[in-house]
Amino acid sequence: MVRTAKNPWRGVISEFRDFLPEVKEDSIVTLQEGNTPLLKSINITSMLGKGVTLLFKYEGLNPTASFKDRGMTMAVSKAREDGSKAIICASTGNTSASATAYAARAGMKAYVLIPKGNIALGKLSQAMMHGAKVIQIEGNFDNALAIVREIAEKYPITVVNSINPYRIEGQKTAAFEICQVLGQAPSYHFIPVGNAGNITAYWKGYKEFHKAGSISNLPRMMGFQAEGAAPIVLGHPVDEPKTVASAIRIGNPANWEDALKARDESDGLIDMVSDKEIIEAYRLLAINEGIFCEPASAASMAGVLKISKEGFFKEGDTIVCTLTGHGLKDPDTAIETSEKPITVKPRTEDVIKLLEI
Ligand code: F0G
Repeated sequence: MVRTAKNPWRGVISEFRDFLPEVKEDSIVTLQEGNTPLLKSINITSMLGKGVTLLFKYEGLNPTASFKDRGMTMAVSKAREDGSKAIICASTGNTSASATAYAARAGMKAYVLIPKGNIALGKLSQAMMHGAKVIQIEGNFDNALAIVREIAEKYPITVVNSINPYRIEGQKTAAFEICQVLGQAPSYHFIPVGNAGNITAYWKGYKEFHKAGSISNLPRMMGFQAEGAAPIVLGHPVDEPKTVASAIRIGNPANWEDALKARDESDGLIDMVSDKEIIEAYRLLAINEGIFCEPASAASMAGVLKISKEGFFKEGDTIVCTLTGHGLKDPDTAIETSEKPITVKPRTEDVIKLLEI
């Protein structure tokens, strides 16, 4: 469909109405999220074997620069429809950035609980900027989520973590968009796993599109956790999760069971990658493809590289990698892991010496 000023992209609720729970028109809270690019890999694809197509679903180009906006439009709209005056969430950063933006738009109060000192700078600035009450917990994400669950049981406040089923509903729309571009589902879908809401959402989306006859195949779901925060891979919660990918520093995912279902029903896998592999993939995407994503997002790319070393992919395979958040979210990690700028006097000859010409 041609998009014009009179016919813009309206956000995921209006665009995918037939596949989503009903929301009254005047309750919809949107920042016109979704419709993100499915970018074809130009340079990394050759590392994966002949005839393999690699694509990136670049979710960093959503309004608050992560995939969370797809679920947040749904969760906040439903909260508004139900007459809720306030929302609350625990977050490693992106959920809080999205929740506070959508709450601001809805004129609702927002409370966000974040692990003190452990969320990326860009995300902290977003949560603070939207006028929410930002509460730092001297603990990790899992501690914060436990507190949020407890408060929600006792007080009239809507939780907008992915334990809210509307979050999953909204997030599944990314799978629809991929299928609409490809005309089918990919062979493999690689995705980072933290609280495991997104892998759950994508699998639900693919299954629903399949059931509706919009696609004739289903992908294998390939989830990747960080080695120091890999409870699903290890089969038990991790008390003190550690990883450079702060967004997925989670030791006891809320959607654990659903992630296992997505893995098993799709004949996929949930595996882990080291911080070193994550940073390598993060830099590879930036340097070889021009795509700046945050470290947690690169866990999906690191997963592709790890698997491809085993000669896994074959000719004709289509691989989609979700890049969940924008690299600008975490400028500190970008600066720490990149070549440092060179300082010179303001003299042309000094600059020329540095050029490889
Ligand atoms: N990538 C990014 C950039 C994230 O922010 C998250 C989760 C994930 C991947 C993992 O997705 O939790 O659905 O498995 N961030 C949450 C937050 C936990 O609070 O922003 P998941």
